Amino acid sequence: MFIVIKETYDEMSKEAAKILAHRIHTKPDIVLGLATGSTPLSMYKELIRMHRDEGLDFSKASTFNLDEYVGLQPSHVQSYHYFMWENLFKHINISPENVYVPMGMSDDIVKFCAWYENKIINKGGIDIQLLGIGANGHIAFNEPGSSLGSRTRIKTLTEETIEANSRFFDRTEDVPVHAITMGVGTIMEARELLLVANGTAKADAIVKTVEGPVTASCPASVLQLHPRSRIILDKDAGAKLKGIYRHIPYEYTSSHFED
Ligand code: PGA
Repeated sequence: MFIVIKETYDEMSKEAAKILAHRIHTKPDIVLGLATGSTPLSMYKELIRMHRDEGLDFSKASTFNLDEYVGLQPSHVQSYHYFMWENLFKHINISPENVYVPMGMSDDIVKFCAWYENKIINKGGIDIQLLGIGANGHIAFNEPGSSLGSRTRIKTLTEETIEANSRFFDRTEDVPVHAITMGVGTIMEARELLLVANGTAKADAIVKTVEGPVTASCPASVLQLHPRSRIILDKDAGAKLKGIYRHIPYEYTSSHFED
């Protein structure tokens, strides 16, 4: 697990975008695992800039999103479908038929989840999965206590997550209480993991993830077991780490991630 600590959110975002862009250049028909939330917003802006100014080409890429609220139409402004189209997809040359976001309005959620898992396999598996982290250590909507072997399924959101996400809704009661999420086991099958975190609110979760035991109480800690995982932080998110994580230039580690 490589830990990269950048001074600012902007630098964190650019570092993550650089890695994703490099992977897309190397494998144009890449399968990307994507995430929503405030954290990746600047990274998506940088990818859009690279597409516009440097010709970063998404035409052959496919994407799978981590999660979606149950009960929101894709057109709902707080749905993760909407988020992805507004903040990334509509600004780049991705083919809509190559975009997959869990269907929160599915009539048969169990069947949908099995279909989603199969679709990932049929596409050849996820090459690189982007992740945020909750202040409680969740990855996607795998809340503390989620099985480390879990697959795509419906989950109940914790009060803490509902509270954290209520900032986007008019009222806390409007936040859906269930979501469809890739499982921890599904995420761990990606060939590479890239977790980004910024701000002091994430500092405790990052210490548990990086320096604590591997435990379902902090689902993100499972990244310790992945052979190719990288965590990119801003200074605030990394402030409580005890270890010394000197910056290793990207060029020195990229071959480890690609072989
Ligand atoms: P955030 O969410 O990027 O909005 O902080 C991350 C998460 O909850 O996984």
